[in-house]
Amino acid sequence: MVEEGKEIIESIQAGPVRDAALIGGAQKVEHYEIAAYGTLAALAKQLGYKDALKLLLETLAEEKATDEKLTRLAEQGGNQRAAREQKAA
Ligand SMILES: [Fe+2]
Repeated sequence: MVEEGKEIIESIQAGPVRDAALIGGAQKVEHYEIAAYGTLAALAKQLGYKDALKLLLETLAEEKATDEKLTRLAEQGGNQRAAREQKAA
């Protein structure tokens, strides 16, 4: 995913299209983290690791909040500006 981000930066000119691509890439990372922490939280719950479960659920909530912020960022114009720029090109 880091390599993908580097490729976006190297291959897309700075502007709304690159921004939209980078937001999408950041959301891929968040979704990966959500899957990982969700799985670990489920395992901690099954094993009765209460302290670990608490921390994992807190981290999971943080990852979800970051994903939602990125979605709002994209919806608040980033993707629309990117679409307009692509149409104009
Ligand atoms: Fe994250």
